[in-house]
Amino acid sequence: MSDRRPTAVIVLAAGEGTRMKSTTPKVLHTIGGRSLVGHALRAARGVDPLHLAVVVRHERDRVAAHIAEHDEDAVIVDQDDIKGTGRAVECALETLPDDLTGTIVVTYGDVPLLTSETLDELVTVHDRATDAVTVVTATLDDPTGYGRVVRRADGVVTAIVEQKDCTDEQLAIREVNSGIYAFDAAFLREALTEVGTDNAQGEKYLTDVVGICTRRGLGVHAHLVADLWQTEGVNDKVQLARLGAELNRRTVEQAMREGAIVIDPATTWIDADVTIGPDTVIHPGTQIHGATTIGAECVIGPDTTLKDVEVGDGASVVRSQAELAFVGPGATVGPFSYLRPGTNLGAKGKIGAFVETKNAAIGEGAKVPHLTYCGDATIGEGANIGAGTIFANYDGVTKGHTNVGAWSFVGSNSVIVAPRTIGAGTYVAAGSAVVADVEPGQLAVTRAQQRNIDGWVARRRAGTKTDEAARAATDTKDEQR
Ligand code: UD1
Ligand code: CA
Repeated sequence: MSDRRPTAVIVLAAGEGTRMKSTTPKVLHTIGGRSLVGHALRAARGVDPLHLAVVVRHERDRVAAHIAEHDEDAVIVDQDDIKGTGRAVECALETLPDDLTGTIVVTYGDVPLLTSETLDELVTVHDRATDAVTVVTATLDDPTGYGRVVRRADGVVTAIVEQKDCTDEQLAIREVNSGIYAFDAAFLREALTEVGTDNAQGEKYLTDVVGICTRRGLGVHAHLVADLWQTEGVNDKVQLARLGAELNRRTVEQAMREGAIVIDPATTWIDADVTIGPDTVIHPGTQIHGATTIGAECVIGPDTTLKDVEVGDGASVVRSQAELAFVGPGATVGPFSYLRPGTNLGAKGKIGAFVETKNAAIGEGAKVPHLTYCGDATIGEGANIGAGTIFANYDGVTKGHTNVGAWSFVGSNSVIVAPRTIGAGTYVAAGSAVVADVEPGQLAVTRAQQRNIDGWVARRRAGTKTDEAARAATDTKDEQR
């Protein structure tokens, strides 16, 4: 980290983003499970500024609410009717204390791959030099649309000229302004008062501050970055996907560097806030979203989606979907199961194939192996829930809770009508509809007694293949006798 904290980071996010063609404000679109402005705030916080301000205008309330959720200490700055990046920064300076000195960093709310490391480098470089402005620049094969960095014959930066204001000669320049800068606070405040709107777009350009700086002989430093992704903004949904894919590539690579085994990085999507322990294997077609945490030596996937899930060490989740769930260490899930919010599977527990769970605490070593709906339930340690068991938790009006005690055994194809308590150490016979509580040690049987009617097939299905088969089987039995 740079030894001096920047006085402020100002994030510009007032623009309309019309090219997104969306009812969602541009900076609220997400990549890697985090909004564009969320990425910008994260990078800004990384350099530990005294003040963090975000300039808003378009969809002001929605954007401001989102920012507050992300970073409650961020100062929301409202930009007025005067347009342009220069005006945006000026509004921020008017909102922040008016005696600020030191370094002020300006970034954009729609440049999501910019890292704290790059901002820190910018601050360090700026502190070391005596220049009033340090601007992050990049050299592009196609500089169309960007402000060009104009240098004198000796290389000194003299101005930044917007595409629409460029001469033909300037249009050929490939070094562009990223829009990320470090300024001396006092100089910036003063210089902005001199910036007008006499340009092709009639806006108050922040870039004009660069020209003012050179004219005063205060020095402008250009900090050229090689990683072009870090300066690329999102203007439309094509760029959103492009930057999202690159962010994912970086996140997956980082996960592998930290010890995860990713079989197919191309079909693995990992959000920015996910953590994965060493030697966990991620199989193809897997999406890991939100605040998911996965322990060490797990098996995740193939074709699995996890969102805000905690998976303990050594657990496996195969071809399944889970949200706001906890999978204990050594537990197994899947294939083909759906863990809804509030699922809490204990250590070494099992949720097998074609099982749906919701608000269900399944004890240590307990098993729900096949074809079950388990909602609003607490299942004790070591209990076994037979194939096809339904926890009927909803009577059409209210939801009821069911408890199944430790080491109990619920037979296949049972329906447990909630609210219900099935004690510890009980049996429920297969095919039961359990409508009364069961005490420890009891067997509950709720089905009708079986009746076998002799000769029924011969009388009622005479001459059919079934009848033939019955006769043949009876004859064989007689011969054997
Ligand atoms: C700006 C720069 C250009 C640079 C490019 C890099 C200026 C005059 N031009 O151009 O040199 O190459 O960024 O992407 O600065 N914003 C506000 N308020 C405004 C206008 C913009 O907050 O009144 C915010 C936008 O939300 C956006 C950022 O500033 O996050 C850049 O605005 P945009 O209109 O995209 O600037 P460009 O014309 O691309
Ligand atoms: Ca832009």
